[in-house]
Amino acid sequence: MENVTILLGLLFIWILVYGVMSLGRSKNKKRLAPGPFPLPIIGNLHLLGDKPHISLAKLSKIHGPIMNLKLGQINTVVISSSVLAREVMQKRDLAFANRSVADALRARNHSDFSVVFLPVNSRWRTLRKIMNSNIFSGNKLDANQHLRTKKIQELVDHCHKSAKNGETVDIGRAAFRTSLNLLSNTIFSKDLSDPFSDSAKEFKDLVWSIMVEAGKPNLVDYFPFLVKIDPQGIRRRMTDHFTKILDLMSGLIDERLKERKLRNHANVDVLDALLNISHDSPEELDRNLIEQMCLDLFAAGTDTTSNTLEWAMAELLQNPHILEKAQEELAQMIGRGKLVDEADIAQLPYLRCIVKETLRIHPALPFLIPRKVEEDVELCGYIVPKDSQVLVNVWAIGRDSGLWENPLVFKPERFLESEIDVRGQDFELIPFGAGRRICPGLPLAIRMIPVALGSLLNTFNWKLQGGIAPKDLDMEEKFGITLGKAQPLLATPIPL
Ligand code: HEM
Repeated sequence: MENVTILLGLLFIWILVYGVMSLGRSKNKKRLAPGPFPLPIIGNLHLLGDKPHISLAKLSKIHGPIMNLKLGQINTVVISSSVLAREVMQKRDLAFANRSVADALRARNHSDFSVVFLPVNSRWRTLRKIMNSNIFSGNKLDANQHLRTKKIQELVDHCHKSAKNGETVDIGRAAFRTSLNLLSNTIFSKDLSDPFSDSAKEFKDLVWSIMVEAGKPNLVDYFPFLVKIDPQGIRRRMTDHFTKILDLMSGLIDERLKERKLRNHANVDVLDALLNISHDSPEELDRNLIEQMCLDLFAAGTDTTSNTLEWAMAELLQNPHILEKAQEELAQMIGRGKLVDEADIAQLPYLRCIVKETLRIHPALPFLIPRKVEEDVELCGYIVPKDSQVLVNVWAIGRDSGLWENPLVFKPERFLESEIDVRGQDFELIPFGAGRRICPGLPLAIRMIPVALGSLLNTFNWKLQGGIAPKDLDMEEKFGITLGKAQPLLATPIPL
């Protein structure tokens, strides 16, 4: 009883102090955005649940499209409308362009060298420029597309093998391996793991473990005073994973440097281009930065791409009439049974609409990659206090009934007559973010996803495992570093 009285007393004092502070703030016209009342110590952490994108979307219905929350010790501002997203990422882009860095990503000092986590500074600008012109430009992507075509062929071969043995395909796993090898061929012109055998799976497991570890909620991120203790051991395990993967990158670079001695520095692929820059201007790009860049590309590009593919297949298996319509388009434009080539995408408007609709309803990164403000910033009459984390809830924006008719219905046709695109200009659809921090991998992603999806649809019919009826397919989400499917999508391919 005595404890309860003390607790109630503490709560009363907290409410009093918080009230007086809020009054003081409004007098200074430094008003925080509205938000739920924070509890002592934990703030609003208890409101997040295991699907924070959904909890925060619900809260925004009560408190509005800009909300202030306290997550443990971290002030967090959540943006949930396309109008405010435009304000943050276009009109006030620079003020919101730095990142809030999770503790796990500080392992091996990764965040000090990572294009994903560096603040907007000259190193970050140089790395982005190098990536844009040496990896993601149209010319560079055209030059290595034949390597990606081979990987799509292997995915289809794997499905043929499963079909022959009457086995189901775990679409998410197959998509993960394929994305990994599409990326490793784009960067290194080689596979980093045998695409469909379990013998050489170390690299795949490493990338997988990094995604799992980085997706775990970490107490240190809400209570930074715990940083030295690392109570869940997340940074310790991440250090192990990063060390292994950076060693692997280093081995590949050594191997390439040896090869280059024999063939006179010719600029053959992305890795060669990076090594040439490093040779000519080591102050711009040294070996460590190349290794960290490769790690960034695999971490940022694999799970995002494979989850999008898995969701697209899940939506199509749940909506057979859409799947049939896509198959008709493919049969008409490229001929049944053929693989889709990157050059075919332009002639496949319905397939492109399916990819957009998937990204609207299942954005791989529902809060983008969290941003941060370095000083007090005024936004729509509210103050976003210095050091706040800023989350843009693109999941909520994609399902906003003020922007989308029947937002929960998967309907690719909504994009057929529409100019809305994912390239960061239309703020109702920003799965790749926008502004200077927009995803640099977008040009590659919008080649890989339709090519893989189209090829799977144009070579097979698909049946859900265990005779599950389409309408009964479990579409539950699992929140992690990316937004995945809680239950893996298992389906049997039937060759066309
Ligand atoms: C469906 C696929 C993908 C989605 C949905 C996606 C989404 C995103 C998002 C939302 C961001 C943060 C943008 C912001 O803060 O405004 C981002 C950043 C980034 N993405 Fe992607 N991405 C995808 C594929 C890729 C691929 C294939 C690569 C590279 C191979 C890649 C590399 C990166 C990098 C390096 C950044 C950090 C950029 C920076 O902070 O300056 N992404 N991505």
